[in-house]
Amino acid sequence: MRRVAVCPGSFDPVTLGHLDIITRASKLFDKVIVLISRNAGKNQASFTATERMLMIQSAIKGLDNVVIDILDGLLADYVRDVGAIAIVKGLRAVSDFEYEFQMALANKKLYAGAETVFLTTSAENMYLSSSVVKQIAYFGGDISHFVPECILDDIKERLVKER
Ligand code: PNS
Repeated sequence: MRRVAVCPGSFDPVTLGHLDIITRASKLFDKVIVLISRNAGKNQASFTATERMLMIQSAIKGLDNVVIDILDGLLADYVRDVGAIAIVKGLRAVSDFEYEFQMALANKKLYAGAETVFLTTSAENMYLSSSVVKQIAYFGGDISHFVPECILDDIKERLVKER
């Protein structure tokens, strides 16, 4: 039996923190689907779903059991449809906990066939998030320690254009 996990998120844009979780998940499961999903609680994304997919694609080169997909629907339905056994999320600090716990319970209620698995974020990524990256880039700061090098220019170009 192939053990499939889904790693959902907005990835707007993907950060080194995301990449760390995706890489570690790829060692735990036979196949990992990085799922670019819509967070109804967030404003308009800075990057289109296709742009985010292309960025993740170049960042995960070499991870042979990782694929990317885009979802505009319910995560629980997707997980059921692809026969995944787990939803993998990174957990940073106490501040993430309540929100993630709520989503894990809601997803379990919607589809009981998968478990949410939390991987603790590596210490160096504890403070890192897509919105922190966007804030720093927006004001011209150095984001090279926060995002994969191969997509650094794409991200800078877009965020500067937004000003
Ligand atoms: O990176 P984020 O924005 O914290 O990820 C949240 C995300 C996109 C995983 C979550 O909003 C989600 O699962 N969206 C898909 C729609 C859905 O199923 N929502 C209900 C979750 S309980």
